Order: sequence, then C-alpha cells, then structure tokens
Amino acid sequence: MEPYGNDHLFHDSTLAFSSDVEKWLRDQGSSEGDLSQRRDVFRTRLATKRCVVVAGYEACRDALEEKEFVASQAYNELLSGVMGETTLLTMEEDGELLKATKMLLHGTILKSMDHIVFTSLIPKLEERLDKLSGKPVNLYEVVRDCIADSIVSEVIGPHHIDERQQLDLLLKDHFRAASRPPVKLKLGKIWMSAFQRGIEARDKLLAKFEAVVKNFEPSEGESCSADCSSLLCAIFTENNNWKMDNKTALSTKHLAGILLVLSNTIIPKTVATLVASTCASITLDISLFEKAHNEAKSCQVDIKSCAGMQENCSETIRLCTKETLRLWPALIAAPRKCNNDVIFRGYKIPKGRYVIIMLLAGNRDPASYGPSANEFSVKRWKVTPPPPEPLSFGGGPRSCSGRDLAEKISVAVICKLLQKYSSWQLKKGSNPLDYKWFPVSAHREPVKFVFTP
Ligand code: HEM
Repeated sequence: MEPYGNDHLFHDSTLAFSSDVEKWLRDQGSSEGDLSQRRDVFRTRLATKRCVVVAGYEACRDALEEKEFVASQAYNELLSGVMGETTLLTMEEDGELLKATKMLLHGTILKSMDHIVFTSLIPKLEERLDKLSGKPVNLYEVVRDCIADSIVSEVIGPHHIDERQQLDLLLKDHFRAASRPPVKLKLGKIWMSAFQRGIEARDKLLAKFEAVVKNFEPSEGESCSADCSSLLCAIFTENNNWKMDNKTALSTKHLAGILLVLSNTIIPKTVATLVASTCASITLDISLFEKAHNEAKSCQVDIKSCAGMQENCSETIRLCTKETLRLWPALIAAPRKCNNDVIFRGYKIPKGRYVIIMLLAGNRDPASYGPSANEFSVKRWKVTPPPPEPLSFGGGPRSCSGRDLAEKISVAVICKLLQKYSSWQLKKGSNPLDYKWFPVSAHREPVKFVFTP
C-alpha cells in the first residue's frame, strides 16, 4: 500500500512546510486538524523531491532503525555541498571511515570536550553574565558564542586573536550557506551567492584545519596518554594508536573534516537553543523556578564533577531539560534516502525516495504522550512507567554523538545560573513560545532574560 498523501509535482509543500511546520504537520491529520487522527506516514513533495514523511512516535523510532533508510552522501544535498564529502554528517552508512570517526568522537574527543566545558566554557559564561547582571541579556547568543569560542580556542589556540576573528567570519559564512539555495554563482570579485560563499569558506576552513593538523606536535611526544585533555593531543594519540594496531586510521584531510564538524556553528546553536528554551520554561513557572533554585542551591556537587543528567543532579533541572528537548528539539528532522525498495510499516517505499523522519512530530505524538502532548509538563516524567524518551537526538546507527555532552552542558549552565542569580525575569515583549525551526530551532525573536543576584 502507498502511504496517504500526494507527491505530484503540483503538490510541492515546501512553502507551507518552511513557513509554519507545526501547522503543516497538523494539517496532515483529519480535515479538522485533529492530532489524534494524524497520519504516521504520508507522502508529500519538498524542494521538488518526492518524499515520505514519518510523523508518529513509533513510526519515527522504526524509521531511525530501518537499515534501508540511509544517511548517504545525499543525506542532505545541501549539507554535502557545504560540509564536504568526507565529514561525518555526509558519510555513507557502515563505511570503515564512519566507524573510525565515531570511535574517535565517542572516546577521546568527547572526553576532552568535557574538560573544555568546565575549564573554558563555564568561566567564560560567568564572566560575560557578570557584566550583564541586572540588564537584559540574550542568553541564546551568549551561550552560542561562548561555546563556539571555547571550541575554536581549543582547536587553534587561545592567543591568535586575528586568526580567530578571521575564522569566526568564515564559520558564519559556512553556516549560513546550509540554509541557502544551492546556487554556485560568482560575478568576478564583486558578488557571489551565499551558497558559493559557504563553499569558499568551507575550503578555506578545511585548508586552515589541515595546516593545524600537519603542524601539531603533541607536547609530550609519544608518551602522552591523552590525559592532558588537549583536544588535538587526544585526537592524535588515538589515531596513532590505531595506526600502530593496523586499524583504519584517519588521514590529515579527514581529521580536518572532524575539526570542521566540531567548529561548525551547528553544535553551539543546538546547545544554546536547549539552554535558552529550558531557562525560559523555568522562568515562566514560578513554582518550578523555586524548586529548581532550591535544588541548585543545596547541590553539593562541584561543578567540575557535574555529571549532567545523572541521578545526583537537580531533578527539576533534569526534567525541565528533557521536557524542553521533547517540545522544542533543536533539529526537527532526520533526513534519509531509501536505499532499496522496502515495505515499511505496511507501506511501499521505493528505492531512491527521500524519507524525512520528523522528530518534532514524534515527540508530540498523543499516542505516546497523551492528550497533553503539546503542553510543557514536567509531571509527565514522574509517572510510572514514564513515557518513552524523546527522539530529539535521533536514534539507531546515526544517533547524536554529542548527546551526553549537550545535556551535561545544559544542566551545568542552568545549575550555575540558579546558584548565582535568585531572580530570573523575561524582558517584556519576549515570546518564548514563538519558534523558527530552520536550520536549527531557536526563538524567532531573541528572548531576553534579566538575571539579578
Ligand atoms: C541539544 C543539542 C543537540 C541536539 C538536539 C542534537 C541532535 C542531533 C540529531 C537529531 C542527530 C541525528 C541526525 C540524523 O539522524 O540524521 C545528531 C547527529 C550528530 N550530532 Fe548532535 N545534537 C546536539 C548536540 C551535539 C553536540 C554537542 C555534538 C558534538 C560534540 C553533536 C555531534 C553530532 C554528530 C557528530 C552527529 C552525527 C552522527 C552520525 O551521523 O553518525 N551533537 N545530533
């Protein structure tokens, strides 16, 4: 059976999808927009491509596990154009390189990023917020900039100010291109399309990172066990160990690609959205704020050994973070392509068809989260058994490599804010429920907080 819907050329729904994705999803249900009647799998056309959209919670979970739905190089044609062929996000399924990259990420890189959070990010954030105490502050922007700054400092060293400013501009151009039409156009030196600018930024960034990789010499030579927490040292030591064990080791070009993925502003943006949205939810509910505040004040854990979402952490902050992730996932979809003709949940999906796994819709599915699926409610996590985990970090073989880190940063930053500031307010006119969803979700207009001790 073919999924419900229409994917003919004249039914392209790109405009409706990009202007209000929540409404577009509701409209896929019955004519009254009844969410409980929503179709779990349906056909449509997006950006001229015939697509199958997966929207129910269980269906999304199955789709993330489905071996024939691959994040191939056509994962997202735009991303592969901008990110390059060798970076993690655009790599083919099951390749040796993908495995090696994931091992590197899960092992040494994340361990060393953990160190960056507590030695560089939190102090930087405190310094910025101290200056803004009592004044309106765009928390999203501050968190995003501090994370980007900490990662770039770690990659190229904290002292090369000019070089860093140049890199910041390139990173901005690179990121912007991911949401622009893939038009490669350049008129001499006068004008070029945003996409072309992104491609040129990518090449310059890769060349820069390749030079960083080539010139890097581990300070403790071969004896370093990567416990020094330097990101580059960690990468080199691990990669060299693989070489010695005759396992697939990564080339300079490939390592430069990993540094590009880590430095790309997508990562700071996702985490900044999570922090700003969770803080907004806490600020809007006075009893939630008081609870979280008391828990944070009595928290005995030194911020450096904070384990993020672990049991010993403030329950209220943990649950608010989880509920925020559910309702406002930083990335709303996982795009795939069908590798072979397949029957998925009874529907015929042909080879080559795009499959959009709508994490946002799965997270708000009333069949899994009940009639209050669209409301922010921390209580839902306190019932036994609790509802299923939100899909915000994807799932299956391509699930997010930075999940623990993202949650840990969010919990640590919010705990620190609660410990320092007894009063949180939203500046008049801020609307924390109004989102823009592309390419990374964020409040449509900056939501400003006033923090006072
Ligand atoms: C709130 C923050 C974040 C959210 C919501 C998020 C979400 C996601 C999602 C949904 C995917 C899967 C995409 C897909 O299946 O197509 C993904 C992949 C990925 N994420 Fe995250 N992410 C976050 C933070 C981070 C951080 C901090 C890092 C790195 C330090 C990171 C690194 C990655 C990488 C490398 C992948 C690709 C994994 C692969 O293709 O195998 N993410 N992320």
